[in-house]
Amino acid sequence: MESDFICATPRHVAIIMDGNGRWAQRRMLPRSHGHKAGVDALKIAVRAARELGVQYLTLFSFSSENWSRPEGEINELFALLRLFIRRDLAELHKNNVRVRIIGSRYRLPSDVLSLLVEAEKLTRNNDAQTLIIAFNYGSRDEIVRAVKLIAAKVDNGELCAEEITPELISNHLDTADIPDPDMIIRTSGEKRLSNFLMWQSAYSELVFVDCLWPEFDKTAFSQCLDEYANRTRKFGGLVKDTGS
Ligand code: IPE
Ligand code: IPE
Ligand code: MG
Repeated sequence: MESDFICATPRHVAIIMDGNGRWAQRRMLPRSHGHKAGVDALKIAVRAARELGVQYLTLFSFSSENWSRPEGEINELFALLRLFIRRDLAELHKNNVRVRIIGSRYRLPSDVLSLLVEAEKLTRNNDAQTLIIAFNYGSRDEIVRAVKLIAAKVDNGELCAEEITPELISNHLDTADIPDPDMIIRTSGEKRLSNFLMWQSAYSELVFVDCLWPEFDKTAFSQCLDEYANRTRKFGGLVKDTGS
């Protein structure tokens, strides 16, 4: 008998795609080349997730703190997002992928906003895989926005403070209808969350790999799934004695 805590394939994998800059620097190339190579790795990861049976894939593409980077680099990252949606949305749609965007829409240029809305609208009924792009995303910002929504409901009498539960808070986050990530992968050897899915990752398995994001391929993805399969998830409880 399998224990309730033995995990097979994670339903939801979230990835902190880190190390584009270092990948470029090691090749004496400008950082922008690293970001371009990062988009190629992103496409490989979306396909690999589908082939490996991962239903939800979240990719951290631009953080609310990345605004502190030089303007030229920010413009590059926005240009790559535009290009990705313009060039690859049709293919994602053809593969029955539902696209969701999480993060703040504040400060986003209006053409980027329209592309994001279009991507979500076109693919909303697809059900082979859900690709969640975290763009202009930061957990603290997301939680602040959720708290403001809840406070407004308390203010206008729609809710009373006693009705605030963890589920209610979850339902006011950008990820409202998305299951919590079972595993969070971070590439590049850094071992931190950098303000990514901090509420949702309460019981996620954290996997840190040394390879830089542009080097992350299907084999690397598959190795992370093997690592996940060897973890014991307990959610604060006890592992059942299987008697073996
Ligand atoms: C990740 O790579 C991409 C973004 C944060 C947008 P980095 O640009 O952070 O690469 P490193 O960490 O400088 O190598
Ligand atoms: C996290 O990487 C954000 C993304 C991958 C989009 P960073 O490179 O911005 O994180 P820090 O600054 O090393 O914590
Ligand atoms: Mg980085």
